Amino acid sequence: MSLRPIIALDFSSREEVESFLVKFPSEESLFVKVGMELFYQEGPEIVRWLKELGHSIFLDLKLHDIPNTVEKAMTGIAKLGVEITNVHAAGGIQMMEAAKAGLEKGTNPGENPPVLIAVTQLTSTSETQMHHDQLINVSLKESVRHYAKCAEQAGLAGVVCSALEVEEIRNTTNEHFVCLTPGIRPSGSDVGDQKRVVTPNDARTIGSTYIVVGRPITQASDPYQAYTTVKKEWSGENK
Ligand code: C5P
Repeated sequence: MSLRPIIALDFSSREEVESFLVKFPSEESLFVKVGMELFYQEGPEIVRWLKELGHSIFLDLKLHDIPNTVEKAMTGIAKLGVEITNVHAAGGIQMMEAAKAGLEKGTNPGENPPVLIAVTQLTSTSETQMHHDQLINVSLKESVRHYAKCAEQAGLAGVVCSALEVEEIRNTTNEHFVCLTPGIRPSGSDVGDQKRVVTPNDARTIGSTYIVVGRPITQASDPYQAYTTVKKEWSGENK
């Protein structure tokens, strides 16, 4: 388990990120998530800049394309030196293998390639939508489990999933399988549009490997204090 909660930098410009980060002590090394919103506005430069500041990065771009394209894209992503990145498991085992190969190709000799994980079913997809839109006629749980198994078969390190799916996934995958879980809300905080949420404390007990926390930290009146509270709860220091 990573002791630092991953902060979702869901901002649309570098300026917004800067005004958020100044609220943290400059020596504090954070683990941050850069997603599509920020990456498509600011490009790879934002990742290089965050790295220079000493932060670890989960680059959440959820690649899903033909294996050759994904492999080439991942070769470039590896050169950015991020810690974690991801693909959609729906792209298939061959695509996931290609993603992994791309990361290995792009990593400097002697360095570790980024940890590669897969998105199973998005937590915004309901079982009814999955049946209708994707014509997948099993339960949502079964589909998530199947995608996790495919990711494991392709040699990926783990999946992005709801903390409520961790137990199910852990029962069918190897003991080191990574479960990175968003949808985290500290006890007593605003749930926002997330439907199935758990507290950092619950996530630890359930067995999440990493937690991703966005608005409870980014929208807090004192983000550093909110971060410290989440971090303590997640690492069990508040016990
Ligand atoms: O603000 P909040 O804590 O809800 O942010 C959660 C972050 O995790 C957002 O960046 C969201 O896009 C992401 N995420 C999620 N559920 C998933 C995958 C990613 O909430 N299944």
